[in-house]
Amino acid sequence: MAQKHSKQELATLPFRNIILDIETRVDDLLNRLTIDEKIKLLAGNRFFQTHSIKRLGIRPFKMTDGPLGISMHTSFLRKNTRFPGGICLASSFNRQLAYEFGKAVGKEARVIGRHAILAPGINIDRTPLNGRTFEYLSEDPYLTKELAIPYVKGVQSQRIAACPKHYVANNQETNRFTVSAEIGERTLHEIYLRAFMELIKEADPWMIMTSYNKVNGQYLFANKALLRNTLWDKWNFKGFIVSDWWAFSRANPPVSIEECILAGVSLEMPRAKVYHPKSLHRALNEQKLSEEELNTIVRRLLRVMFLVGLFDNESTLPQGKRNTPDHQKLARRMAEEGMVLLKNDTNTLPLDISKISTLAIIGPNRNKKFGKWLYGGSSAVKPPYEITPLKGLKKKCKNKVQITTDPTKADYAIIFAGLNHDSNKKLVRGESNDKKIATGNDSEGIDRNQLELPKDQVNLINQTVQDNPNTIVVLLNGSPIAMNSWLEQVPVILEAWYPGMEGGHAIANILFGDINPSGKLPITFPKKLLDSPAHSSTKTFPGENLKVYYNEGIFVGYRFFEKENIEPLFPFGYGLSYSNFIYDNLQVNKTKYTKDETITVSLDITNVSNCLGSEVIQVYAQDLECVVERPLKELVGFEKVSVSPNETKTVKIPIKIKELAFYDCTDQSWKVEQGEFRLFLGGSSKDIFLKEKFEIAL
Ligand code: BGC
Repeated sequence: MAQKHSKQELATLPFRNIILDIETRVDDLLNRLTIDEKIKLLAGNRFFQTHSIKRLGIRPFKMTDGPLGISMHTSFLRKNTRFPGGICLASSFNRQLAYEFGKAVGKEARVIGRHAILAPGINIDRTPLNGRTFEYLSEDPYLTKELAIPYVKGVQSQRIAACPKHYVANNQETNRFTVSAEIGERTLHEIYLRAFMELIKEADPWMIMTSYNKVNGQYLFANKALLRNTLWDKWNFKGFIVSDWWAFSRANPPVSIEECILAGVSLEMPRAKVYHPKSLHRALNEQKLSEEELNTIVRRLLRVMFLVGLFDNESTLPQGKRNTPDHQKLARRMAEEGMVLLKNDTNTLPLDISKISTLAIIGPNRNKKFGKWLYGGSSAVKPPYEITPLKGLKKKCKNKVQITTDPTKADYAIIFAGLNHDSNKKLVRGESNDKKIATGNDSEGIDRNQLELPKDQVNLINQTVQDNPNTIVVLLNGSPIAMNSWLEQVPVILEAWYPGMEGGHAIANILFGDINPSGKLPITFPKKLLDSPAHSSTKTFPGENLKVYYNEGIFVGYRFFEKENIEPLFPFGYGLSYSNFIYDNLQVNKTKYTKDETITVSLDITNVSNCLGSEVIQVYAQDLECVVERPLKELVGFEKVSVSPNETKTVKIPIKIKELAFYDCTDQSWKVEQGEFRLFLGGSSKDIFLKEKFEIAL
């Protein structure tokens, strides 16, 4: 019989003693748990929380979605700050902003009594059609990890666990519960695992969520090699592993309890389907599992419970806050820094409010709200208010400019086009979207079926330009769009992504020049789908016989376009500003380095314009001699700098030599070979202004 404790007794037990170190407290608590209590802790109770163990005063560990802020479905229908999507954050190329974002959502999670946030989503954008591209960051693993690291640090600074997801290769929604991503070892490590690895090493996330899909025929949550051997043993991951919701029970063929436990999954969510008490007892009786194996995964879960302060006095924990003007301002800044100006013929933008009498504001997204119940899937956040583009422009134009819907009677026509999350409606009703592909929207559970905008929008754009050549297209969407049928005719295109609750103000600020655009594309925009590396056949996307072949290998995104010399519509790293920048005087601190060193790249950047502007200086590297084929260019560093009109700034960018490594399958390790390398500096992967060579001598 397990010993009962009074409240007073409980408070005196060693695991409640905050003076003791965490490992001692965890061991003490673990030793007090009965086998049934341990089993109880291994699966969810309610949709987003674990069971409590009242006897020992263990309260439920509570989680919340997700990548855009605190979701409504995990916060008792509360309305929370809606931040822009992950792709917008990535476009900002701003590490500090990622940290502030993490800190803000950490505070929002804390104030509603949650202990973990199921974010960031760091799957690599392999295909532009992936329904969740809007939640994820980039096609590039370096950029992904550079922003995910500060985000996780920000969240965890509030003693809230971050949960990077979905480990790994959840790069499409079609057949997500059953598809197997067939990936070569080098590609898996160099492209798809890299951001997870770096995050674990640099930011110590307290959780990792496994994906629904299989990799090379095996479900991730039953994959000892990729979980225990890689996450725990190779990368020294100290947190716990949680399944994606219902993943265990969706598995086909089914997975066994011992496979998942031995692989290292501590928590089955949202309920015990595979980790059912009966099955667990049977596995223990049949000696397929030992209690020590259970202890290993329970210990990890308990440790995180201590880290988030589940046993501490609430008053000693960071105090949360929600929906504050500060958070709303941050949401606006993220939108302003993430929007990407794609085209601006004859400097049409910024608009001069004193010279405009009428603006036509049209298009399906002009007054659309995106923050609705499960709209887009699990990342949906409903804010207390949402500034639509129309609302933002009305405020800006009040008493100054008239607003109409007739392009023929306006100085400028602004079309708010793009996508939405409508295709998720079926998912919300609980239907399986396993085999469906959406009609062209960004949503969890469904991939897009075309790169183009819906036909009626293309017609609207072409008709409007005919009616009024001063047409501006603002896109609200979360993934690349083909524009061949209208790009030439339209003088201005602004990619606004899904810009969050303050989006309308951010758009108005950019159009009228209160904010100088500085976002850069974290993903290549192809001219047509066939140009995209994942789309060479149905075998490579969406797959045949539930297998999707990653035949492009490491050549994902710009790595592929450069290798094949395919002209993209807009390259990775691209984005215009109202300022012009001149790059000059590139210097590296040495010409020869060893593999543990850091290169300091220094350059001068001048803003030759009359407005303050920010530029993302991008550093790419090329390995000139290597035993394996390497990309022509890979992002290895960047710095976003703000430069005043006519000012020249000297900027130093540190590049760790380890960023130049490739994954060597012969001995399963990351390697930098000696020899010559080249550095490219520029404003996008295509606009390279400075080059320099250096050598690595081991
Ligand atoms: C999604 C996860 C999400 C979870 C909980 C799953 O369907 O794939 O990203 O965190 O649901 O809502």
